[in-house]
Amino acid sequence: MDKSGNGKRENWGSRFGFIMAAAGSAVGLGNIWRFPYMTGENGGGAFIVLYLVCVLVICLSVMIAEFAVGRRTSLAAVGAYKTIDNRWTFAGVLGVISAFFIMGFYPVVGGWAFAYIVKSFSGLLSSAVPIGDVFGAFISNPIQPIFWMIIFLAVNVIIVAKGISGGIEKAGKILMPTLFVLLILISIRSITLPGAGAGLEFLFKPKFDVVNGQTVLAALGQAFFSLSLGMGCMITYGSYLDKKEDLTKSALLVTMMDTGVAILAGVAIFPALFAFGMEPAVGPGLVFVVVPSIFAEMGGIGAVFSVLFFIALMVAALTSSVSLLEVVVAYLIDQKNMERKKAVIVTGAIMTFTSILSSLSMGLMSGVKLFGVGFFDFFDILTDKIFLAIGGMLLAIFVGWFMKKEDLKDELTNGGTIKFGLFEIWYNLIKYVIPVAIAIVAIMGIRSIEQTSLMLFGIGIIVVLAIFSKKL
Ligand code: PHE
Repeated sequence: MDKSGNGKRENWGSRFGFIMAAAGSAVGLGNIWRFPYMTGENGGGAFIVLYLVCVLVICLSVMIAEFAVGRRTSLAAVGAYKTIDNRWTFAGVLGVISAFFIMGFYPVVGGWAFAYIVKSFSGLLSSAVPIGDVFGAFISNPIQPIFWMIIFLAVNVIIVAKGISGGIEKAGKILMPTLFVLLILISIRSITLPGAGAGLEFLFKPKFDVVNGQTVLAALGQAFFSLSLGMGCMITYGSYLDKKEDLTKSALLVTMMDTGVAILAGVAIFPALFAFGMEPAVGPGLVFVVVPSIFAEMGGIGAVFSVLFFIALMVAALTSSVSLLEVVVAYLIDQKNMERKKAVIVTGAIMTFTSILSSLSMGLMSGVKLFGVGFFDFFDILTDKIFLAIGGMLLAIFVGWFMKKEDLKDELTNGGTIKFGLFEIWYNLIKYVIPVAIAIVAIMGIRSIEQTSLMLFGIGIIVVLAIFSKKL
């Protein structure tokens, strides 16, 4: 039922279901775990401004384009590129590799969230050991985080094995709204703490003197990561969409929800962080330390909120990671004629292995380096700093220069039955502005990145894929 051409391709159960699933893919650890700590490490307000510019000028249009390509072809990323122009197959395969790499570290953090649900029950908030030290000890433990990561991955495997509307859609519908409400509650508590003003100032009063090429690349990479773009995920989701949906409106809605949640996560965390006199640039531990500290400060009721928060975080992570797993699985089904169950199990097994390496790189294997970084950072930096942005650039070039303008217009207006007033602007953005903008940001950012050998390795992968594109 997943093959196009013969028989009917599986579709989303309802319009609400699709929006929720796409928003579920977008809203995840990227918004709640990554966005705040990136903001903290990159100087606050200025990073947020750059991020918003990237979302508005680049990513929204890329999302519209991904939906259009997916629905036009009714095929997942690789098949979509291949049927339109087979020299471009590599761009789809790059997306599958990105999904694989992101799933090399994402389940580790999903596992942390899982573990923190249980820890919130068992006295995390009232323990004598400082919450920051609990986190440090936990992630460097050789067994515990791996145990939770495997549970997290197993849930993914079960959901994706059930297929699109059965699992992914249902999970997103209930839990996304829960997350939103919780974040609002935490934000209210955070901004009413004494001394919270400094956090709001950090967030909303940009200081542009801290900006350099690397900050801009970080903002762009974060925008792609957070919106699930540049690796075929939204192409794949679009391919399950029926011909009546309004693609531009859907893209706008998903983008707004995703951006709203990221900003909200910032508002939840930074005022409290400053109120508690903590450091903004602590890195990946940020949510796992600051949010429990807010809850601990609330007394008894805090434990209930803490449990709820980490459930919501874990589910937000889950609705994103299933979309990543689905990209790889859809490729194996569409291109390699594999059966869904088998594809899911094989893929899940490999991801378990890579995630074990990432988890161990926080402790036992912290001395093992690939191109100068541990496994966790290897997967993270390669995707976030290179593959997604370059994937987005390739998609824009492909759509702008290798697809027919009339076809795009037809797809985005549902054959002329709905309006897309800004079509010309969108088209010019995709064709000219976005490829050039991404190229400039990538060159500026990559030049100033310390891990030169890692960057060259990443670019090497893309070049090799392009050369061997016929075999993919
Ligand atoms: N957007 C997801 C998040 O913010 C991560 C993701 C990236 C999902 C790419 C799918 C594709 O957590």
